[in-house]
Amino acid sequence: MRKTNIRVLAEMKARGEKIPMITAYDYTSAQLASLAGIPLLLVGDSLGMVVLGYDSTIPVTMEDMLHHTKAVARGAKESMIVADLPFMSYQIDAKQAMTNAARLVQEGGAQAVKLEGGEKISPTVARIVDSGIPVMGHIGLTPQSVHTLGGYRVQGRQRNEAARLLKDAKALEAAGAFALVLEVVPAPLAGLITRQLRIPTIGIGAGTGCDGQVQVLHDMLGLYTDVVPKHAKRYAELAESMRSALVQYAQEVEAGSFPAEEHSFSMNESLLEGLTDAQ
Ligand code: KIV
Repeated sequence: MRKTNIRVLAEMKARGEKIPMITAYDYTSAQLASLAGIPLLLVGDSLGMVVLGYDSTIPVTMEDMLHHTKAVARGAKESMIVADLPFMSYQIDAKQAMTNAARLVQEGGAQAVKLEGGEKISPTVARIVDSGIPVMGHIGLTPQSVHTLGGYRVQGRQRNEAARLLKDAKALEAAGAFALVLEVVPAPLAGLITRQLRIPTIGIGAGTGCDGQVQVLHDMLGLYTDVVPKHAKRYAELAESMRSALVQYAQEVEAGSFPAEEHSFSMNESLLEGLTDAQ
């Protein structure tokens, strides 16, 4: 199977084929997602919450993103990897944004980067795209701006906000973004934006009218339980499976029933004859 690229994604939109995307943060999850046939992997800065235990994405650094992107790149053979530019790694000026985007591609092994923001950030998007790096936009609920948004709230419910989001989406498309994440946007608005754009939209909490969907891996697997977003469907309950496996393991170690013979290694015991601690 060939590796997904931005042309494949554009063709999928043209054919009306839905695009699945999932976050991945390490070698194993990237390998599993790639083998499952998911064409797009996002090394999201959500790793700050679900892997590193921060209470937002704001503390995530470029070094964190590079560390995890490299691991994902080793595991994802067929999926295209998009890596998030973390908070304050692109907002200062286009030079900073291009330098950090290049690091995620050159050192990290990503094929594209994602950044948050609309029309205001579009000149930066154009500069990164011009330098040869595909950019995915991200509008609606933009978690890096949680403090200016006043919390994790639905975006675009008012007419002026909806008009703003449509304008942002068009500005990002004009700047050369190859796709756009719409996060926690009412479904009718996300559908309208999707129909107005040539590039694919990838929704999270944005309804079925988007061209694709993205979910945070730990949410859909039931692994991260500190916060359970309304838009996250649980496809498994891995936290519960892990908890009961760990309890059983501890009980078996305490009872001396683990390791069993099949988990141990034998030797010719006569070789031990006469050996004492002192020797
Ligand atoms: O960081 C992330 O996981 C994201 C998705 C929620 C779109 O940006």
